[in-house]
Amino acid sequence: MALDYIEIKGGRRLEGEVQISGAKNAALPALATALLTSKKCVLQNVPDLQDISTMLKILEHFGARSQSFDSTYEIQIENLGSVEAPYDFVRKMRASVLLLGPLLARNGMARISLPGGCAIGVRPIDLHLKAMESMGAVISLQDGYVEARAKKLKGGEFTFGQVTVTGTINSMMAASLADGESRFLNCAKEPEVIFCGELLKSMGAKIEGLGTPTILVKGQTSLSGFSHKLIPDRIESGTYMVAAAMTKGEVLIRQTCPQYLEAVIRALKDSGANVELQSQDDILVKGANEICPLNIVTQPHPGFPTDMQAQFMTYLCLANGESQMMETIFENRFMHVPELMRLGAKITIQGSKATIKGNASLVGAPVMATDLRASASLVLAGLVAKGTTKVHRIYHLDRGYEKMEKKLALLGANIQRVPQA
Ligand code: EPZ
Repeated sequence: MALDYIEIKGGRRLEGEVQISGAKNAALPALATALLTSKKCVLQNVPDLQDISTMLKILEHFGARSQSFDSTYEIQIENLGSVEAPYDFVRKMRASVLLLGPLLARNGMARISLPGGCAIGVRPIDLHLKAMESMGAVISLQDGYVEARAKKLKGGEFTFGQVTVTGTINSMMAASLADGESRFLNCAKEPEVIFCGELLKSMGAKIEGLGTPTILVKGQTSLSGFSHKLIPDRIESGTYMVAAAMTKGEVLIRQTCPQYLEAVIRALKDSGANVELQSQDDILVKGANEICPLNIVTQPHPGFPTDMQAQFMTYLCLANGESQMMETIFENRFMHVPELMRLGAKITIQGSKATIKGNASLVGAPVMATDLRASASLVLAGLVAKGTTKVHRIYHLDRGYEKMEKKLALLGANIQRVPQA
C-alpha cells in the first residue's frame, strides 16, 4: 500500500491506444456541489482515484448517502450532518476547501480546517475567504480552523487578486444560493470551472460569463439535483501525449478533449512531435527522432498549464539543446528537479526559472515522488532511462492518475507496481 513502488525498465517505444479517464479537477468540485441540494445527484465517468474516495468520505461525514456502479456515482445529502471538515480529511486534500462555499450557502455555517501548506507551496485560501466576505459571510480563524457564518449570503461583488481555479468555483457555488446577484472579476477560465458552472446551471443556477474573466450569478432559493458526465482529464491526456513523444512512439489518446489542450499540443508540435486530431475526441501523437528545445511559461488557462510543467521538464531533458521553463503559478513547484537530477538530468533553478540542459542520457535509479505531477514526471523519466528506475511514494501518483502503470504497460512499457507489505 503506502510503500508500494513502481519499477520501470526503460527503453521501450510506446505504441497503441490509451483511454482517458474523467477529470479529477472537475470531479472534486462536482461532488462538493451535491451539498447545495437535498436532491439526488448523478455523476458519470468518475475516475477511480484516491482524491475521489477522500472527497466521498468527507461528504459521508456530512451526511451524504452514495453508491457507485462502474464509473457512475449517485450521491444525495438530504440532511446535513456535521458542518466541520476535520483536519484529518483536509490535510489529505487541499481541494476540501471546495466544501466552504456549499456548506455556507446551504447551512449558513462552515468550519474547515486550514489546509496545511502542501508540497507545491503555501497555497493560501485568502481569496476564497474574501469572496465569501463579499457575500456577507463573517470569517474567523481559530485553532487552525476557518469558521464562516452567514444567516443568508447576499449577492456581492469581488475581484480576485490572482486567478484561482477553486476560488472561482467556490464563489460560484456560494453565490448560486445567495440572495441577489453577484459579480466576480478576474475569474479562472479553466475547463473545469466552465464544467462546474454548467453543472450548477443544470441545477437551476443562473450564471453568465463562464470562460470569461467576469462571471455573474443570480442567486436562487433552491437548486435541483444533477445528472452529468464528467469532461475528460486534460492533464492525464497531456501526460500520455508526452510519454508518446518522449519514447518516439505512436499513441492514440482516446476520448480526450483536444479543445482544452491547445497550449500543450502547440508545445509538442514546436518540439518536433507530430500531433494530429483523429476525431473530435481522439489525438494521435507520433514522437520525432529530434526533440527541439523550448522556452515555456506556465499560465492560467488557456496558457500552458502548470500541471504539465513537471512532465514537460522530463521531456525537455531529451531535447537537442537548452530549454527554459518559467513556473508563474506556484512558488515551489520544482520538487521533481532534484529527483530528475539523480537520473542524470542537468537542470539549474533560479527562482521560478528552470534551465534544462538537454541531450541528457538518463540512467535508472531509485527516486522519490513528492507531489502528484512530480510523480508523473519521474515515471516518464523511467520510461526512457537506461536500466531500472524505482519510483517510491507513489501514493502521490494514485491521487490523480487512474491505473497509470496498467495504462503504460498496455502501451508496451516494461513497468510494474511492486506491492510492499
Ligand atoms: C487547482 O488548484 C488545481 N486543483 C491544481 O491542480 C492546479 O495546479 C491549480 O488549480 C492551478 O491550475 C484542483 O482543481 C483541485 P489556484 P487551486 O487557487 O485551485 C494562489 C493537480 O495537480 N492562491 O488556482 O488550489 C495559489 O497559492 C492540482 O491536479 C492564493 O494566493 O489553485 C497559487 O499560487 C495541483 N490565494 C495560485 O493562486 C487563494 O485564496 C493559483 O492557485 C487561492 C489561490
